[in-house]
Amino acid sequence: MPTGPGRLLAISDLHVRHDENKKVVDGLRPETEHDWLLLAGDVSESTVDFEDTLRLLSDRFAKVIWAPGNHELWTTAADPVQLRGQARYDHLVAICRRLGVITPEDPYPVWEGAGGPVAVAPLFLLYDYTFRPAGARTRQEAMDIAERAGVVCTDEFYLHPDPYPSRQAWSRARVAHTAARLAEIPDHLPTVLVNHYPLVREPTRVLRFPEFALWCGTEATEDWPVRFRAAAVVYGHLHIPRLIHQDGIPHHEVSLGYPREWKQRATAPAGAVRILAERT
Ligand SMILES: [Fe+2]
Ligand SMILES: [Fe+2]
Repeated sequence: MPTGPGRLLAISDLHVRHDENKKVVDGLRPETEHDWLLLAGDVSESTVDFEDTLRLLSDRFAKVIWAPGNHELWTTAADPVQLRGQARYDHLVAICRRLGVITPEDPYPVWEGAGGPVAVAPLFLLYDYTFRPAGARTRQEAMDIAERAGVVCTDEFYLHPDPYPSRQAWSRARVAHTAARLAEIPDHLPTVLVNHYPLVREPTRVLRFPEFALWCGTEATEDWPVRFRAAAVVYGHLHIPRLIHQDGIPHHEVSLGYPREWKQRATAPAGAVRILAERT
């Protein structure tokens, strides 16, 4: 394998439960021995598949950095691990630690390769139902509008917030904890912020069902890319891979998505997206 300066690569929403996605994952390989891979959530709702996939990728890439998606946090009847909420998240973090994968609970590693140095921060923030449709003043009003539109996220049934009273309470705790950690990054270091959900609302404007935005992030992070000196933001969850710029900062959605989605795109899945390429 070439020894070059290394590349920072990112992908999300692998959903390896689907065999065709598993094949895409099997094809994910570094080009240099220094490449890092950012995994922005939704590897699988199965803890067995989650561990197998992270083992495969951590054997290949110099470093793998994971931010949890909602699917990893689902507690489904089919999974041998029946832990819920925080305990489930802690279990996934323990799996990552055995494999040497960096999680939101670890010190933020500094990428020194092409486009660096930058602190790479995987985030676990959930959502708090503040991406509301116009006219909805409260979460309940927003949920009523979504329900009338026939839109409800499966999280409502499988993503348990225990021991927090609600997903929004868990999200608020994560936002406060994470903001304090990001504020400790030395001022001279830009960041790459890696989150399952978009950090700003703009990407949700193109959702096919706009009411689904309720389950897609929090207004609390709208100023984070600027406040925490992001050289790039990486997110997934929407299954709409694209690049937008806000305040001059690139926001990369790096989702693979479900086979029925990526098969409709003009081109086959391109694999991982290169981050910070414009800084080299
Ligand atoms: Fe997904
Ligand atoms: Fe997701």
